[in-house]
Order: sequence, then structure tokens, then C-alpha cells
Amino acid sequence: MFHLVCGIIGFCTLSKTPLAQSPGSVLFKGLKRLEYRGYDSAGVAGVYQGKLIVLKGKGKLDELEEKIRLSSVRGYTVIGHTRWATHGIPNDVNAHPQTDCRNEIAVVHNGIIQNYRELRQFLVERGHVFESDTDTEVIPHLVEEFYREFNDLYTAFKQAIKMLKGSYAIAMVSTIEPDKIFFARKDSPLVIGLGNGYNFVASDIPAFLEYTNRVIIVYDDEIGYITSTNVFLENIGSGVVDWSKRVRVVEWSIEDASKSGYPHYMLKEIMEQPRALRDTLYGLLSDVVVDEAVSILLNSRKVFITAAGTSFHASLYYSLLSSILLGKPVIPFIASEYMVYSPIASSGDTLIVVSQSGETIDSLMALRAFKKKGVRVIAVSNVVDSAIPRESDVALYTRAGPEIGVAATKTFTTQVLLLTFLALKQGSSIGRFSESEYREYIGLLKKVPEFSREVLASTEDIVKELAKWLSRKKSIYYLSRGIGLPIAMEGALKLKEIAYIHAESYPAGESKHGPIALVEKDFPVLFVIPPIDYLEELLLGNIQEMKARGATIICVLSEKSNLIDQCHYPIKTPHTHWLLTPFTHTIPLQLLAYYTAVVKGLDPDKPRNLAKTVTVE
Ligand code: M6R
Repeated sequence: MFHLVCGIIGFCTLSKTPLAQSPGSVLFKGLKRLEYRGYDSAGVAGVYQGKLIVLKGKGKLDELEEKIRLSSVRGYTVIGHTRWATHGIPNDVNAHPQTDCRNEIAVVHNGIIQNYRELRQFLVERGHVFESDTDTEVIPHLVEEFYREFNDLYTAFKQAIKMLKGSYAIAMVSTIEPDKIFFARKDSPLVIGLGNGYNFVASDIPAFLEYTNRVIIVYDDEIGYITSTNVFLENIGSGVVDWSKRVRVVEWSIEDASKSGYPHYMLKEIMEQPRALRDTLYGLLSDVVVDEAVSILLNSRKVFITAAGTSFHASLYYSLLSSILLGKPVIPFIASEYMVYSPIASSGDTLIVVSQSGETIDSLMALRAFKKKGVRVIAVSNVVDSAIPRESDVALYTRAGPEIGVAATKTFTTQVLLLTFLALKQGSSIGRFSESEYREYIGLLKKVPEFSREVLASTEDIVKELAKWLSRKKSIYYLSRGIGLPIAMEGALKLKEIAYIHAESYPAGESKHGPIALVEKDFPVLFVIPPIDYLEELLLGNIQEMKARGATIICVLSEKSNLIDQCHYPIKTPHTHWLLTPFTHTIPLQLLAYYTAVVKGLDPDKPRNLAKTVTVE
């Protein structure tokens, strides 16, 4: 599973290789190859004549090349990075590489250090001075600290890595041992490229594929270093690894490789959800800003939530959760309809604006209209420091990583996870549930990444088959009730936008008030069935109404549901608590839309008439 947050590249070369002619240009080209991952800042470091050279800044690679000439970095040991901000806004100081107090150690990092606050505190108490707001900066300072103690750089690096909690791919250079790049990996991709007189480390193969196709995939909990002619690899717990048996020759093109072997970004992003959900949750668990948002919400008179498209479905889900879990009404509205809602808002109210891009114009207009009324605004976004978070009082971030496919997938499930966490925190603050109930709920959320992994594995094949049948249909209904409804709406939107099939979503009980008139023999009706007894009973009635008219029934439901036999095509998901329904039940719908588009020969990454970010009203 590949981690689309930040890009790392580094190499060590002998002075006689073609790379040594202009190491900076090779590094810059490698960074360009990682551009597709998305980033907001970039930087490079090289060890040259005993000194560390660091060039970095906010902006796109070409802009930075013009401003600070990234490619001018010197040395035969160089590292580079494209940063997608998670901790600390995108600016020059927060760009990687991050360095130690003496400017002898430079580190680039992909992932999230969950315990960076404690580590920073520990280091500040020992006199280290920090410059950035990043979680990454603790790493060079830790190495510096342990080097003082052990006087051996690799031991210091290893010791530092042992202190880290979270996910990381790390590359480090230092003037202390100028011919090595030290690396470590946990839950974030890292590969080694083996050349002739040079070796690479990178977060993805395309970064160096032009120079070598012989690769070693670094596994979790592995650590080591490369030189221009050697690789040292060990498992941090069990010791030295004989990597020679793990060398693979890659036969993909660069384009294939940037999708990590997936045919489309959309599929890659669907498959990345376990990682995206885990990073989002662990990011939230260590984010004090959540408490600020909770306190604003608890002191609000009215709460509104707004968004467009998929983000609106996540918003609707939150408003339902707020009623069910907190007994507190939240008013959801579609962002472009803000003019109907802003007149009833006043100071003392709060607006939550949900936008993965943070730039959607409708959502931004709604935000501005509400701000004018003195309303406080909480942003939920996937892009640090984008317009919506910037103009909000408080910003909460999902950590899905950049989403390249136009259809929102991992950003939806991570938004729902964030909003569920927010609701749970609110509930615990107002004593709506006991401390132990709260802990149980959080324990459930911690299982979300694993459940999503299971759903991906258990539903993909059946969905692929179903897609062949669905691809021949012109129209389909997506029906559900209660918390299942936003999921049904999201499933219908996905199918519409990438498979160009008319898909309409309705509350199941409402279908008899009109939509059922279209149902005839073989008309597809998809039911989203949450694992809640009374909803199952009600939905059984709706399934029977549809079947009586000849409809073909597709169901997404728990493997333990009593309704399995009622469905022509049951898509069974692992049984769990209803709170996890958006994760277990949405993923098969994303896959269904994806495979239906593929069967129809469409490009799911670039649906017609749509843009990833809609910045016109
Ligand atoms: O960036 P945002 O979350 O604000 O985008 C909102 C919608 O434009 C977006 O969700 C759109 O509906 C997607 N294409 C859905 O897959």
C-alpha cells in the first residue's frame, strides 16, 4: 500500500559516474518524478566539502528552481523532498530537509510522528533549539542528542528511530559521515535503487527508474544506510538482513510506476484507505486543535454544516450523528444554497465547512457569508493552509494524502472518520456517555483501518462481477434509511460521475411517493443496509415493494444480516458496530463505480465535464 504524502529521493554516487556530473540536476529530475504525489513545498540537501548545503522553500519545483536553484546543490551524497504539509503550514521554514542545531544533520521525512510533542519537550529541556513547526524536526535533534552520547552516527540514528511513534520513511545525511544516507521505514513506503557506482533511496520507484530498475523494497521496521557501492539493511528488532535475495527487477514504465502498479489513481486511492484512515485517526488523537473545535461547538447556539458533492455527504452524516449520539441538531446545507441559510445565522452560531481541497468556491462563499454575520467557522480539509482553513477560526485536517482521481474516495472516508471523532469528543465533554463508553468508541475507530482492509479484500471480486451486469443498465436507485442514507447518496454520486449511469438516491421510505413508478422488470435497486435491527426491518418492507415490481435487488449489508436471502446480489461486509457503517459500506460502492466505469471503457480518473477542484460559481 503506497503512501501518497510527501516524496523522498536521495542518492550516493562515486565521483566517476554519469550522476556525479551534475548530482543536483539528477536530484531535481527525481523530485519532478514525484510531483504527481502532490506537494506544497520542496527542498534538497547535499554534503559538500565537509559542509551541509540546504536549499528549500514553499512553492512548486519550477518556481523554487527559478528562485533558489534547487538543482545547484553540490555533493556526491544528496537528498531531496517534496512536502505535503501535515504538521505546520506550508512555508519556507517548515519545508524539508530539517536540520539539527549545529547544521550537521539533515533529514527528510514522509509520514507523521505521533509523539513529536513529547520528543520536542524532551529535546528542548536538553537545550535544543527548534525552528519549524514540523513533527520532522525532532528527528535531526534526536540524532544530534544521541550522537553526543554514543559518538557513533548509525547508533545515534537507530536510537532516535526507536524513540519515534507513528509512520515514517526517513532519509538522513550528515557531515559526520558524508558518504552515507541513513534511512528507516515504518508504514510509509521506501525503496532502494541499486546502480553501478551509485545507490538510491526514494519513496517511489519512478524517482530513480531512469537510472536503475533493480530495487529492494524496504519493509516496516527496517533501518540502514546506503553508500555509493553498498547497502546495509537490518530489522530494528531482529538484526541484519541479507537483502541480496530481495532484489527485484522492475519492468514497468515510469507512468505505471507512479500509480504503484494500479491502472488508475482512483483504484490506488481506494486501496490506500486503510493507510489514510489510520493516519487521519492518529493525527487527530494527537491534535489539540480538536479540543478547540469541541469547545466552540459546545458553546454554540446553532450549528450549521456545509459542503459540496461528496463532502456534503460526509457533512450530512455528521448532522445525523449529532442527532443520534448527542441529541443536538446540526443544520446541514449544500454550500451553493448558502444565501437561504446565512440570513438565519448570527454571532454565537458556528459553521463547519467541509472541503477536501479547501478551495471549492461554493463552500468558500458560504464561509464568507457566515463570517460576515459574526459566525465562528471550523474547517475540515485535506489540504493544509488552503483557502477554507485559512479563512476559518479553527482548521481540522484529514490526512488522506493528495487525491488525484477526480472522484473523491479516500477523502470521503477520512472526512467521516474525522467528523465521527469530533462527535465522540463532543459527547464525552458533555457527559453524553461515560469515560469507558468513550474509550470503547475510540477503540472501535482504531479498528476502522483494519475493517476497511478486510472490506477491500472481501468485496472486490464480487463487485467486479456485478459491474459487468450494471454496465449495461441506464438507471439505478440507491436506497437506504437513517445513517445509511448519506452512504447511498455517495454511492450514487460515484456511479453517476465516473460510469455515466443515471443513479438516484432516496430515503427508502420515500421511494413509494413517486420514484417507484419507474421500477419495472430488472430495474436495479441498490440498498445500503446498516447493521441496525429496526432499520433492517423497515428496509425489508422496501425491498419487498421493489421486488414485487420486478426490480433486481443489490444489497450492501453485514455478513450476519437477516436480509441476505432477500437480495439478488448481496455484497457482504464484515459484521461490526453500526458506527463503522460508512467505512464498511462505502468502500464496495466506490469499487462498484470504479469497475463499472472500467467495463464501459471509461477513464475513471478523468470523468467528462468535471474538475478536481471547482473554483467557479
Ligand atoms: O474539494 P471539495 O471537497 O470541496 O469538493 C467538493 C466537490 O466538488 C467534490 O466532492 C465532487 O463532488 C467530487 N468529484 C465527488 O467525487
